[in-house]
Amino acid sequence: MVWICPTCGRACKTLRDLKIHHKIKHKTSLPQDYLQDVTEAEASNGIKILPVDPEVFIPKNVPKYVPTNSEFEIFEAHLESGVPLLLIGPKGIGKTLSFAAFAAQKGVPIIQFDCSENVKRGDLIGRFLLRGDEVVYQLGVIPTAFEVANKKGAAILVFEELNALTPQMQKVLNQALDWRRHCFIPELNKVYRLKPGVKLLIAATMNPSTYGGVHELNEDLLSRFAVWYWNYPGKDLEKRIITEVALRNGFNEIPGEILDGILRLAKETRASVAAGDVEYALSPRDIVQFCQLYIAYSKYFSGKSLLKKALETSVLGKYEDEDHRKFVKQRIESVFGVRI
Ligand SMILES: Nc1ncnc2c1ncn2[C@@H]1O[C@H](COP(=O)(O)OP(=O)(O)OP(=O)(O)O)[C@@H](O)[C@H]1O
Ligand SMILES: [Mg+2]
Repeated sequence: MVWICPTCGRACKTLRDLKIHHKIKHKTSLPQDYLQDVTEAEASNGIKILPVDPEVFIPKNVPKYVPTNSEFEIFEAHLESGVPLLLIGPKGIGKTLSFAAFAAQKGVPIIQFDCSENVKRGDLIGRFLLRGDEVVYQLGVIPTAFEVANKKGAAILVFEELNALTPQMQKVLNQALDWRRHCFIPELNKVYRLKPGVKLLIAATMNPSTYGGVHELNEDLLSRFAVWYWNYPGKDLEKRIITEVALRNGFNEIPGEILDGILRLAKETRASVAAGDVEYALSPRDIVQFCQLYIAYSKYFSGKSLLKKALETSVLGKYEDEDHRKFVKQRIESVFGVRI
C-alpha cells in the first residue's frame, strides 16, 4: 500500500512518511477526514471499488441550444481525436449548455464536474469510504469518466470553471489529458484507461481570468488543452438565439419591440462594462430570464407594470452599487421609455 498526500498527490511509503511530508511541505497536520479514511482502509483486507452506473450520466431534459459557430462539428472532432478542449468566455453565453446539448443529441453520457477551491484529490481520483462496517473505494470523477466511456463506448467529461481548481489540483488532471490518457490510482495499484475504439472527450469551461477570485491556469495544464475563445454573439445572431429559445419554450408572445429593447439594453451594458461605467454585463442568460419572467408575470400584471416588474428582477436586481443602479435605470428609461 502507498500513502497519497491529499494535498499534493505525492506518494509516500508509510503513513509516518506521509505525516512528516505533510508537516514539512504543507505546514499542517494531515486533515482529520483523511486519517479516518486511511485508518479504516488499513484495517480492511480487500478493497471493494464502488461500481459506476453509466445510465445516470445520460443527459435528460437539456434545454435547446442554438449552435452559432459549428460548435457541434468541432466537439465531434474533439471527441473523435481525443484532444481536450477548453472554452473560455464571459458568463451566460452557453458554454456549459453547448456540451450538454451536444451530449444529449448524440445520446452520449456526460459528466459535468463543478470545480472549486475545495476540490480535493479524493474528488478527482477517488477516496476510501466507510459503508456500514465495510471499507470501500469510491472512484473520483476522472476514473469514473473512463469507466463510463468504456461501458457506453463514448463519454464526455467537462470540468466547469476549471480555473477555480487550486494549482495542486490542476496537476492531478495532467495524466488524463496528455498522451498517457490514463488515470493511475496508486492506493489501488490500478490504471484506468480507454479500451480500443472507445472515445472520451475531456473538456473544460471557464470565464476569462480577468473575472478575479480564481486561480491562474498552470501552464502545463493549459498546454494540454486546445483553447477556444467565445464572446457575446453579434446583434442578429443573439436575436436569432433568443427567438429560437423563446419559440421552443413557449414564451414567443413577447412583443417584438420589447425583445428588441432587451437585446439593445444588454448590448449597451456590455459596452458600459468595457467603458468602466458598470461591472455587470447582461448576458444571453439574463435575456432568456427576462423573457421567462415577462411571460410568468403576465398572469398577474399587464402593460407597463408587467414590463417594469420583469426588468426590475431580471435586470436592475443584478446591480447592487447605487451609482450603477442609477446608470442602468437611465438606460432602461431611454430604451423602454419607462421609469423604475
Ligand atoms: N446559443 C444558445 N442557445 C440557447 N440558449 C443559450 C445560448 N446561449 C446562451 N443561452 C442561454 O444562456 C443560458 C446560459 O448558458 P450556460 O449556463 O451554458 O452559460 P455559460 O457560458 O456556461 O455561463 P457561466 O460562465 O456563467 O457558467 C442558457 O440556459 C440559455 O438560456
Ligand atoms: Mg457554465
